[in-house]
Amino acid sequence: MTKTLEGKVAVITGASRNIGKHVAAEMINRGAKVVIGDILDAEGEATIKEFNEKAGTKVAAYIHTDVTKYEDNKALFALAEKEFGGVDIAFLNAGIGSNANTMFLPFNDSLDDRMLDINTTAVVKGSKVAILYMAKRGGGVIVNTASVAGFLCSPAVGIYTASKHGVVGWTRSNAIFEHVCGVRMNAVCPYWVETELAGDLGNNVHQDPFATMVANSPRTKVETVVEAVLTLVEDKSRNALPGNVIRAQEPIAVYPEILNENSKAVSDTYIQETIPYYKKRLAEALEREGI
Ligand SMILES: NC(=O)c1ccc[n+]([C@@H]2O[C@H](COP(=O)([O-])OP(=O)(O)OC[C@H]3O[C@@H](n4cnc5c(N)ncnc54)[C@H](O)[C@@H]3O)[C@@H](O)[C@H]2O)c1
Repeated sequence: MTKTLEGKVAVITGASRNIGKHVAAEMINRGAKVVIGDILDAEGEATIKEFNEKAGTKVAAYIHTDVTKYEDNKALFALAEKEFGGVDIAFLNAGIGSNANTMFLPFNDSLDDRMLDINTTAVVKGSKVAILYMAKRGGGVIVNTASVAGFLCSPAVGIYTASKHGVVGWTRSNAIFEHVCGVRMNAVCPYWVETELAGDLGNNVHQDPFATMVANSPRTKVETVVEAVLTLVEDKSRNALPGNVIRAQEPIAVYPEILNENSKAVSDTYIQETIPYYKKRLAEALEREGI
């Protein structure tokens, strides 16, 4: 195995098990150090023990992280800097699949908010912390775990679909940061992978006609997801691409198909002016956060 990630440090959320853990293992195989943040502490500690024992040296660390909290995200990235010297890669992968359809359940604020908090808002929070750490390091790459539900849809998993569309929208909106501070942001969009989360999504629809669809749908091998994530990390031409489907223009066009003559005239200027504007905002944020 070529050590393509030698000297790199990765922060990975939701990596106590399944997709996140497999990606962490492959990054270590390729020479990276990894810091895992999750709420499953026993599994997380066991995972890093396994990685460190296999490597015969410290290649992984774990910290309890509720990704919905800024403080936890900050502590996660700070640990990576303390243990391994900085952060080059963030795989923001934590997510849930339970209660993916609340349409006719009793009205309940926390039930509706929870999936968007964990699957979408936490990716926003993690990305914002990651950008500061990576800007300080001179650049880096963020991969967010979306899903095919990030661009396809089904009424049976409506709020999960909304949450993953949100991840894709957030990711595509941030292509500009490659030009501001050398940070690329991508999203990976897997189909069904056999994990506890897929089971939660499946159970959610067990009395729904969609259950027949789930049972008869093809599965994605976890190795395929791992390869996709590593491609998005290592291929420097990838920025703001969910899978290999959408290529962002350089710098990012602003909806050229719906611009009128006036907005067309200012569109390019707007993008060009946004880059130095963000550089200034970034410098202020780094100072404010003490990063
Ligand atoms: N399994 C699939 O079919 C499938 C398909 C497409 C996308 N995905 C996405 O892949 C990602 C990983 O899922 P998985 O299939 O490996 O399932 P999983 O349930 O094994 O992994 C999710 C991980 O996220 C962690 N997590 C949940 N809430 C958290 C929180 N608040 N803070 C920190 N960690 C938290 C869990 O503890 C778990 O370790 C998820 O974002 C999921 O939506 C999964």
